[in-house]
Amino acid sequence: MRTVLVLNGPNLARLGSREPDVYGTATVADLRQACDATAAELGLAVDFRQTDDESQLIAWVHEAADEQLPVVLNPAAFTHYSYALRDALAMRTAPLVEVHISNPAAREAFRHNSVVAAVADGTIAGFGFGSYQLALRAVASLLDRDA
Ligand code: DQA
Repeated sequence: MRTVLVLNGPNLARLGSREPDVYGTATVADLRQACDATAAELGLAVDFRQTDDESQLIAWVHEAADEQLPVVLNPAAFTHYSYALRDALAMRTAPLVEVHISNPAAREAFRHNSVVAAVADGTIAGFGFGSYQLALRAVASLLDRDA
């Protein structure tokens, strides 16, 4: 069974209490459960992680590259300015889907640019936790394509 790394950047551990009007009231534990349920349907396993630390996130991206692990990534605010994360992702060796809970294109101007989008297979944004479930489906179809 293939494992997909589901990586989450800063402030996403605070889902449930963080700006509930934007991100909803469900928690990061609920998000993990939703990912597990979708992965099980797809015959995939999920390794779900969250960090507020850019260096930790980059280390996980290096691990994914070394282990040929597909990644679903919510880079959170790093999306908009972390060239270091972007450069790490450019070394990827398996599918990569960028996800966002909200729709950054419909929010403040600083959220309109993603410095990581160009090195991903694609981006899914604006569907709440459903963005992750759609991203896992996208990863499954990319893995099938490459099999
Ligand atoms: C986010 C959108 C980002 O702009 C923001 O910095 C986040 C969460 C989302 O999932 O909607 O932390 O990535």
